[in-house]
Amino acid sequence: MKGAGFLLAFNLLVLASSFVSAYDPSPLQDFCVAIDDTKNGVFVNGKFCKDPKLATANDFFFSGLNIPKNTSNYVGSAVTPVNVDQIPGLNTLGISLVRIDYAPNGGLNPPHTHPRGTEILVVLEGELYVGFVTSNPNNRLISKILYPGDVFVFPIGLIHFQQNVGKTKAVAFAGLSSQNPGVITIANAVFGSNLPINPDVLARAFQLSNKVVKYLQSRFRSF
Ligand SMILES: *[C@@H]1O[C@H](CO)[C@@H](O)[C@H](O)[C@H]1NC(C)=O
Repeated sequence: MKGAGFLLAFNLLVLASSFVSAYDPSPLQDFCVAIDDTKNGVFVNGKFCKDPKLATANDFFFSGLNIPKNTSNYVGSAVTPVNVDQIPGLNTLGISLVRIDYAPNGGLNPPHTHPRGTEILVVLEGELYVGFVTSNPNNRLISKILYPGDVFVFPIGLIHFQQNVGKTKAVAFAGLSSQNPGVITIANAVFGSNLPINPDVLARAFQLSNKVVKYLQSRFRSF
């Protein structure tokens, strides 16, 4: 009886773990090209996988990362993501890539976090002031100025940023330890949430007047 109870609990645990997948799983096969259409799908591992026999080179391919993105926006930067949405063959492999373009004189990739990935960034062009802040209670800023060829790491989950402090445009590429690292841009999430957070909450949290909070909310809701 005791053994049966344990077996039941174990089975429930296995069942539960098949629904909850907080991290990119370790692949149990060479690859699992993500596919939406279940007709050619053979099994499930987070997403439906394409029948491996039908996988082609294009499932593992992306082109155009040499093309700069337009940075004429309010922060002066643009990110080109290359994750499982662009390369279905990245499914289950725990890795992805971005290109980041920065406008001259202050172009900013604003404070944000990747809830599911550590980032390793290399500067190809320009001069970047980069940094991240450690978790509570110390909230220590770890920052540096980077030049072409320099590499910097932003640990998983920590708030980080990069700003172009040079007079020319800047370009960086970064690898991330997830097929879908996710992005939370702090200002947009906090002041631009849909629906808006009650201004009293933000006024206290950020030590601002309700008027300033409402102004910030109007700014970020419009983006
Ligand atoms: C970049 O975007 C801005 C604003 O949307 C636009 O005015 C400009 O023509 C674009 N530049 C290029 C090179 O596409």
